Amino acid sequence: MMLHTDSVSLSFGGVQAVREVSLSVQAGELLGLIGPNGAGKTTFLRLLTGILAPDCGAIRFQDRDITRAPIHRRARLGMAMTHQIVRPFREMSLIENVMIAAVPEITANPWRALVHVRRDRARARALGLLERLGIADAADRPAHTLPLGYLKRMQVARALAFEPRLLLLDEPLAGLNYTEATRLADLIVQLNREGRTVVLVEHNIAEVVRIASRLAVLHNGALLAEGLPAAVMARADVRAAYLGKAGSDA
Ligand SMILES: Nc1ncnc2c1ncn2[C@@H]1O[C@H](COP(=O)(O)OP(=O)(O)O)[C@@H](O)[C@H]1O
Ligand SMILES: [Mg+2]
Repeated sequence: MMLHTDSVSLSFGGVQAVREVSLSVQAGELLGLIGPNGAGKTTFLRLLTGILAPDCGAIRFQDRDITRAPIHRRARLGMAMTHQIVRPFREMSLIENVMIAAVPEITANPWRALVHVRRDRARARALGLLERLGIADAADRPAHTLPLGYLKRMQVARALAFEPRLLLLDEPLAGLNYTEATRLADLIVQLNREGRTVVLVEHNIAEVVRIASRLAVLHNGALLAEGLPAAVMARADVRAAYLGKAGSDA
């Protein structure tokens, strides 16, 4: 088992965003994590990476208790996340955004991080990642001039710069058109086949069902169901959870 949460909970004031979630992620699997808007998916991923700390419960990653471990330690252990909302360094080029991804100084001062990077090697490596994601044609364009499809893929390239064993993806397909979404979904499958374990949070149910080896469903912060995709999607309580939120799926 690669990752395990044991009855993890977190409240924001009166809102219980995550309720006693016990979930295991097996090494090598591509787990789809779904649920209606507000179900607690993003909060759960943030608990895994250490952006948030749980009120109670425990998180184990590769046989270590990481419940209180800081973000950078979890990153070093092999965890990387992409965020639902892309926030690139707008004035930096696409390739620079990827070059600085794995530099520790990044949060303090991204421009300084860029100076510290060993440029030739970092650039070659970043270019390889851009090629992998099919966005190398825009390598030198400033991030703020690029369409969302490029930025979503840039985020995956940034995450891959850490060479993570566990890739946590928060709605990577959101905002992409059908062709772009299918292509990125296929790439996620490839990354998984290369040995990366993936937790994929996604609203694009058709794509999740197509590529996930297993599904887990969150509803009102709690784990509602888990199992094989077809079986989970056939469940009446899972359908009801989605129908109850119809139209609010933003
Ligand atoms: N930083 C925050 N402060 C207060 N409430 C939050 C915060 N983040 C999330 N929430 C609330 O927690 C619940 C779960 O949100 P979230 O994890 O973003 O759901 P999902 O990603 O499944 O749409 C929602 O009710 C949301 O409004
Ligand atoms: Mg979310």
